[in-house]
Amino acid sequence: MTHLENTFATPKLTTAQAQTLIATAKRITGVAVSVDKISFLELRVGRRLRELNCRDFDSYLETLRGPGGEVEARYLAEALTTHTTSFFREKLHYDWLANEGLPALLENGAGRDHKLTVWSAACSLGSEMWTAAIVLDQFARNLPGGMSWDVAGTDVSRQILRRAAAAVFSEDQISGLPDALRREYLMHSRGTPRIYRIVPELRSRARLCWANLVDLDRRLSITADVVFLRNVLIYFQPEDQLRAVEGVVSRLRTGGYLMTGHSESLSELPGNLRQIAASIYQKV
Ligand SMILES: C[S@@+](CC[C@H](N)C(=O)[O-])C[C@H]1O[C@@H](n2cnc3c(N)ncnc32)[C@H](O)[C@@H]1O
Repeated sequence: MTHLENTFATPKLTTAQAQTLIATAKRITGVAVSVDKISFLELRVGRRLRELNCRDFDSYLETLRGPGGEVEARYLAEALTTHTTSFFREKLHYDWLANEGLPALLENGAGRDHKLTVWSAACSLGSEMWTAAIVLDQFARNLPGGMSWDVAGTDVSRQILRRAAAAVFSEDQISGLPDALRREYLMHSRGTPRIYRIVPELRSRARLCWANLVDLDRRLSITADVVFLRNVLIYFQPEDQLRAVEGVVSRLRTGGYLMTGHSESLSELPGNLRQIAASIYQKV
């Protein structure tokens, strides 16, 4: 083996070590990685080992158990979460919102009697939240008298929240955004590769904060009319899925809507939630 290979080789992970890593990450985020995903764990946690100069997984586990272990557990949880997202992902939800959800909410006073709020509850880079903001802006401009609205984004990953707050995207990351909307809602850099940023008019309507869906803090001050809870429940065990849904629904106004990912139908529904379309629910 060459010196370089030796330096970068990832140590092997045993099933027992994997179980401890998985349990630690699950305690922090609820994200339940399957124990057969050894190579995924080796890859993701292996990067962290190199950053810390840990020679093997046992010494990393000692770091997790030692002083500062709680802080390290958060890095571990970051390493095991997946942040894939895009503008207009699962577009049917946005079409439904513009054509049916928003008119019905408005009819019941949202946007007039109180500010209409859309919450992206596992917002990752913010693409979902900004897409909702674009849909709201387009909807509001056609209303005589306009409407009062804002958007909120929360995530358990502090790293991704910092990036979401910057509202900066690469060409690849905005591939789902049609040209006309790019011209209207993005500023871009002069050089190549181009870097894009959400315009201040939308940024001023957004707030981002940390929240753990499986253990929502009572102090989280969001009351939403629409919640996007998409592509995150799949990572949770059934009991954590229900806890996350109940927590989110308790911050949803009666009559408001909850969207889950298209592949995340809820097997167990809280009593105050009824399904009105595929992966769309209403609080009653
Ligand atoms: C695959 S992304 C989905 C992003 C977006 N909702 C979408 O559908 O495009 C999943 C996000 O969930 C976040 N996440 C994982 N566990 C979480 C938890 N317990 N509480 C809040 N967010 C969590 C991750 O950090 C990640 O950004």
